Amino acid sequence: MVLQSVARQTPTTKAPEPTLGTDLIPKERYISKEFMELEWERMWTKVWNVAGRESDIPNVGDYFTTELGPESFLIVREAEDKVRAFYNVCPHRGNQIRNAGMGHAESFQCAYHFFEFNLDGSKKFVPDEDTFTQGVPQETALTEVPCDTWGGWVWFNMNPEAEPLMEFLGEIPEHLDPYHFDQQYLVSDQTILWDCNWKTSVDAFNEVYHVQGIHPQILESIDDIHVQIDLYERHNRYLVPFGLLSPRYPNQEDLTRALREMLSAAGVDPETFEGGPADVRPAIQASVKKYGAEHGIDLSDLNDDQLSDDYHYYIFPNITLNTHHSGVMLFRQRPHATDPNKMYYDLQNFIRIPEGSDPPPRPVHSTHKHGEVSLGLGLDQDSYNLPRVQKGMQSRSFKGLLINYRERRIRHMHKVIDDYLEGPDR
Ligand code: FES
Ligand SMILES: [Fe+2]
Repeated sequence: MVLQSVARQTPTTKAPEPTLGTDLIPKERYISKEFMELEWERMWTKVWNVAGRESDIPNVGDYFTTELGPESFLIVREAEDKVRAFYNVCPHRGNQIRNAGMGHAESFQCAYHFFEFNLDGSKKFVPDEDTFTQGVPQETALTEVPCDTWGGWVWFNMNPEAEPLMEFLGEIPEHLDPYHFDQQYLVSDQTILWDCNWKTSVDAFNEVYHVQGIHPQILESIDDIHVQIDLYERHNRYLVPFGLLSPRYPNQEDLTRALREMLSAAGVDPETFEGGPADVRPAIQASVKKYGAEHGIDLSDLNDDQLSDDYHYYIFPNITLNTHHSGVMLFRQRPHATDPNKMYYDLQNFIRIPEGSDPPPRPVHSTHKHGEVSLGLGLDQDSYNLPRVQKGMQSRSFKGLLINYRERRIRHMHKVIDDYLEGPDR
């Protein structure tokens, strides 16, 4: 008997709702140094973190650094099939082994006194070793942390006893492998130092309740009401229908400019399009399916809704994936080293390319301050708001975050933070 492989598709079943209560979320979680430190000790140092893209280190000896809170890590391809992660710290007197960035090395020589380490982190050479009268223990090495890959990303965990990455990710690979992230290419890469807590930024993308407030233009092309929310053990998602009018939009007969632009982007000429607003989403889905087949982009693992919608995933604690049929927009929110009122917002766009075509060149990474560059209308609206929220939360008048049912992904994130803060050591 020949066993047929069954294509795995993203499950769409609604997850059972956990009980999360209705209490105010204490504002101290966003503004206090003490909470920030607790979060670092009990949560950040125990979770799997995205370090960067595996394709940035294709050859043995290639490396990049990644910064998280007060730490820096060195991610190295030690062998064709082995990527390792180390604290970017010399065990001699603490100098950083490499400046932030990426490069290639045969070995890692510290620039201060020339201690040298192999690509597996082990000691290679110590100048004047006999002058260390106490001896230099053979274990003197770069301190390694657990490291693995999924989706084309390198992940690391500061907890030496960490559960395997796949266990941490839970349902995520099953849900998102149909998008084939490992075949996607980075086309933009920015970091912005935002004037808010990392969670203020996460929250801004985990509810669509604010669309009617700060993004009125988006009401012209998404349904911000009929959004399925699924809260899992650690991670969560919402499925946002694109290519239709919001029920809040005043004229339900209006084939808006945004809908016409979406049609056009999907390869449908809006001038000859005969349908109304409700016909746009199916037309986009049909056209994208045809486009994929004609252009060698295999979209067969995706359901029809995924050809138009944003399957928006939050991988606890700081990865947001806006997944679309042929690309993904990734946000990574990194805590600041010392200030709960600041964070690093990494914004990256990835695209799928037709089979056999050349990958686009890797974009140069750029770093900016809050408001210094435009990120596009929608993200500019979000980022304008964030320092104001962060400041308002510090007012003595503000009691805590009053969260509604549509905003419950925020409550869920705090529950998972508490699982780390109050739970057993991981
Ligand atoms: S601090 Fe690195 S060799 Fe001295
Ligand atoms: Fe927004």
